[in-house]
Amino acid sequence: MIQIPDTLAACAVDVLTTADAMEKTAKSRLYAKAWFEGRAAGQPMPIGSAEPPARPARPERPELLAPRDVPRRRPGTPAGRKALLHAVAHIELNAVDLHWDIIARFTATPMPLGFYDDWVKSADEEAKHFRLISDCLATLGSYYGELPAHAGMWRAAEDTATDLMGRLTVVPMVLEARGLDVTPGMIEIFRKADQPDAIASLETIYAEEVGHVAYGSKWFHFLCGRHEMDPKETFHALVRKYFHGALKPPFNEEKRAEAGIPPDFYWPLAEQAE
Ligand SMILES: [Fe+2]
Ligand SMILES: [Fe+2]
Repeated sequence: MIQIPDTLAACAVDVLTTADAMEKTAKSRLYAKAWFEGRAAGQPMPIGSAEPPARPARPERPELLAPRDVPRRRPGTPAGRKALLHAVAHIELNAVDLHWDIIARFTATPMPLGFYDDWVKSADEEAKHFRLISDCLATLGSYYGELPAHAGMWRAAEDTATDLMGRLTVVPMVLEARGLDVTPGMIEIFRKADQPDAIASLETIYAEEVGHVAYGSKWFHFLCGRHEMDPKETFHALVRKYFHGALKPPFNEEKRAEAGIPPDFYWPLAEQAE
């Protein structure tokens, strides 16, 4: 029986300091449920404050390797598809931590409760995504931890640990928006391989990730308004400051638009990197 902490910040830190992936994702879902029950009852759990770890606890496996050392496998093969799902599971687990981290790390900045609603919902969905992909791996006789995974996924969080607008820029509006660009191609790979559970899981992820990007854009624009900053100029400056590498076309312009990211936010950064 998991004891629910008294404040949302303490819930967040508890998820972040839980190493086991199944336990981490179970807590993510349970604490989200507790948060929304409190909200529905008109008695929201206090936000509180708590010190998030510099890096979240992670299971002993997978082994974390530098991106260049992670073996590349062709997606047209069963081993390649397994590796692809394994990489997605790794991203989803990291995303659970990223959403709880934004909740715990910036409590000194007063934000409307809707800010917390959005990130708690996102953290809940990432936990669901991790479980969905874990089930797909199980169908293939695999599991999260069987293959090595990318180290350095936490880099964006570390770089923006003291800058909420930087965090919103790099995590939901650049990294999660990139997910919208690449997910249709992944769904196609599993369609060709006739793997219906992977198709359904990735379609759920694709639909829900639009929301996460939209939350990023919403609160980024909110803070621009609060500080009377120009959103496009600010976005460009923060990407240049915190994001290492180019924004890679092709972009999913339709889903980016749905998520509140206009073309003049990302095109100038892509072109400049050519
Ligand atoms: Fe996700
Ligand atoms: Fe997400």
